[in-house]
Amino acid sequence: MLNRPTGRPDRRTFAIISHPDAGKTTLTEKLLLFGGAIHLAGEVKARGQNRRARSDWMKIEQQRGISVTSSVMTFEHGGVTFNLLDTPGHEDFSEDTYRTLTAVDSAVMVIDAARGIEAQTRKLFEVCRLRNVPIITFVNKVDREGKEPFALLDEIADVLALDVAPMSWPVGMGGTFEGIYDLVHDRLHLPARNDSGHFEGETLQFDGMDDPRLAESLSADGLARLAEEASLAVAAYPAFDGAAYLAGDLTPVYFGSALKEFGVAELIAALSAHAPSPLPQPTTAGPVDPDHDAVTGFIFKVQANMNPQHRDRVAFMRLCSGRFKRGMKLLQPSTGKSIAVHSPILFFAQNRELADEAFPGDIIGIPNHGTLRVGDTLTEDENVRFTGLPNFAPEILRRVALVDPTKTKQLRKALDDMAEEGVTQVFYPSIGAQWIVGVVGQLQLEVLISRLEVEYKVDARFEPSPWDTARWIAADDPADLKAFVETHRGAIATDRDGAPVFLAKDLWELNFHEGRNPAIRFTATKERT
Ligand code: G4P
Repeated sequence: MLNRPTGRPDRRTFAIISHPDAGKTTLTEKLLLFGGAIHLAGEVKARGQNRRARSDWMKIEQQRGISVTSSVMTFEHGGVTFNLLDTPGHEDFSEDTYRTLTAVDSAVMVIDAARGIEAQTRKLFEVCRLRNVPIITFVNKVDREGKEPFALLDEIADVLALDVAPMSWPVGMGGTFEGIYDLVHDRLHLPARNDSGHFEGETLQFDGMDDPRLAESLSADGLARLAEEASLAVAAYPAFDGAAYLAGDLTPVYFGSALKEFGVAELIAALSAHAPSPLPQPTTAGPVDPDHDAVTGFIFKVQANMNPQHRDRVAFMRLCSGRFKRGMKLLQPSTGKSIAVHSPILFFAQNRELADEAFPGDIIGIPNHGTLRVGDTLTEDENVRFTGLPNFAPEILRRVALVDPTKTKQLRKALDDMAEEGVTQVFYPSIGAQWIVGVVGQLQLEVLISRLEVEYKVDARFEPSPWDTARWIAADDPADLKAFVETHRGAIATDRDGAPVFLAKDLWELNFHEGRNPAIRFTATKERT
């Protein structure tokens, strides 16, 4: 296996990508239970209807509070420690959701068997693809009627342009569900119902799919189905290839039911066996290996305190190399200063207070007063500066209208601050005085208005924007860029760093301009500077 650690504890740092309601929360709970969660503070999260019933204000509070409990969840299994990083979904979908995917080494993609690939899964998948993050697929809810397994596999392959390798096969679904056949180990997982209505998961070993003993465990229909479908699947799809998986070109596919705890143990085993240990991370001077002696890490997320009197933040750092110790001093190259990390939040600790060390792949929460920003490097080695933490083009654009026009300066400072923090994008159109803010999730707009009011004493509101989408623009030849900017001045803005941005009314218009201007690169991400 690639990159197994030598002297340090083994880690799998991963995220779950899915569309709302596919079963991420349920699966997370089951993973934590199966894995004997080390740190499980409070409930994982409200589920389904309950969650959607929460008041708007509650959601804002949660967004702004230092509710670190569900940001990183750690569990252990078979000597491996798993760090599961939360990717906020639903209304709290934000740039943080995307950026969290830059701090993981692999992902689990959860798909609802009845719905297949849905919009949000696809978006998150595209972010994974930017860094070739290896993905294990879990087709959930096989206890209910769903699409045919072949249709699901073909959909994953076609929509995501990814090879699929079925690792297990459901014998029926919903009312006809009889069990899951492990195609790799020739085992049949049988759902013996216990009193709680959950499956017990009895597992039987066979000598291949034509073992006559299978007839004792499956109905005649089930047996025929397995013989026909599973053999066809083995022949029709590529076999699992570890290198192709690690390169992000192939996804092994497991079937199961998070709700009934079926297939969850196999998923953990797959993460253990196949998912990568902490990988080298890109810096301006080449990748830093996790075995590098010096402690290095980068900040991928900052959470603000909900109490405006206390400008506390918790910055989440992904540790990339070295052995972190409480109290150690780390250089922050963006300011040139050193900070002493006296009270880190160490999520994997049995008891947070007692943990003193962390290893590559672990996440450390660092309380601070706003000095640490998304994209910052913290390092013992002054030559290391991490790259690859992008800004993502916003999906919702709004014009900002000031209620009191004398507050323009304060508004600009607030928007610049928040853009720097990584919670929003701000664009200054080259024509006209009204600024545009962009976010990737609706809730961010509410958070923004409320923070403007409370923290910056600026009364503003958002109005519909004439533009619907934004792309950073660049060209190899500066003359090409200049010419494009001049001819399209009405649709050009600059971001917080002064980088040129093209604003389009819709995707059709964007595609049109992309087609007409091959010398211009339109990008949906921009590396943070
Ligand atoms: P999410 O975090 O991806 O949004 O999904 P979540 O786990 O909240 O699950 C969404 C709904 O799907 C929940 O039902 C949950 O119980 C159900 N679910 C999850 N996994 C399975 C599964 O394997 N089989 C079946 N049949 N259902 C599953 P809900 O009605 O919205 O919530 P609740 O009232 O059941 O809590």
